[in-house]
Amino acid sequence: MNLKIGTSGLNLVIGNITEQETDAIVNAANSSLMGGGGVDGAIHRAGGTAILEECKKLRKTTLPDGLPTGKAVITTGGKLRAGKVIHTIGPIWKGGDCGEAELLADAYRNSLLLALENRIKSISFPSISTGAYGYPVDKASEVAIKTVIQFLEDNKGLDEVRFVLHSAHDLMVYEKTLQELIKHNRKQQDLQG
Ligand code: APR
Repeated sequence: MNLKIGTSGLNLVIGNITEQETDAIVNAANSSLMGGGGVDGAIHRAGGTAILEECKKLRKTTLPDGLPTGKAVITTGGKLRAGKVIHTIGPIWKGGDCGEAELLADAYRNSLLLALENRIKSISFPSISTGAYGYPVDKASEVAIKTVIQFLEDNKGLDEVRFVLHSAHDLMVYEKTLQELIKHNRKQQDLQG
């Protein structure tokens, strides 16, 4: 399923983020940047040690205390088809009253800003925070898609933003969210005449 926003495309696909051929892929990392399970583990395994070496350098220089939630950094893609990996930290779900939605939106927005700063034209996102970090996928999909649509409406320069879902269930949830947002926006436009 896809949506055109200006000259940019927002696409929902099912697959493995490590196999995407976009200029960059986004890693759902943890603050240590030293790797982990899920997407983090898959990207480090597929991309090889060059990625971890650059993460270690970042920790030694600009990020001695680790990468804060919602922030993003960029490294080589190593052996991946994608030339770059943008590492971001999603929030751990604590029930929804601890600013999780704002932090999740920051993670998407800061990743997109970093992509523009690095002249990246296409970027793949996993469903950040909806695995080990426990963020309900329906709520996360709303934050993720709204944040990306708003960013693409406000910023030119990206040809494609791709959400790479890892299960048919997650793809269905993201598609439902996107359809509802499109319907809502159409209603808003009709009301404004
Ligand atoms: N490609 C695409 N999506 C994937 C892949 C993959 N290869 N592997 C897992 N996913 C999906 C999961 O199914 C989930 O929907 O990515 C989403 C995010 O799950 P996690 O990887 O667990 O990330 P997150 O919930 O943000 O938790 C981050 O987990 O791996 C550790 O080091 C990481 O501590 C950090 C935490």
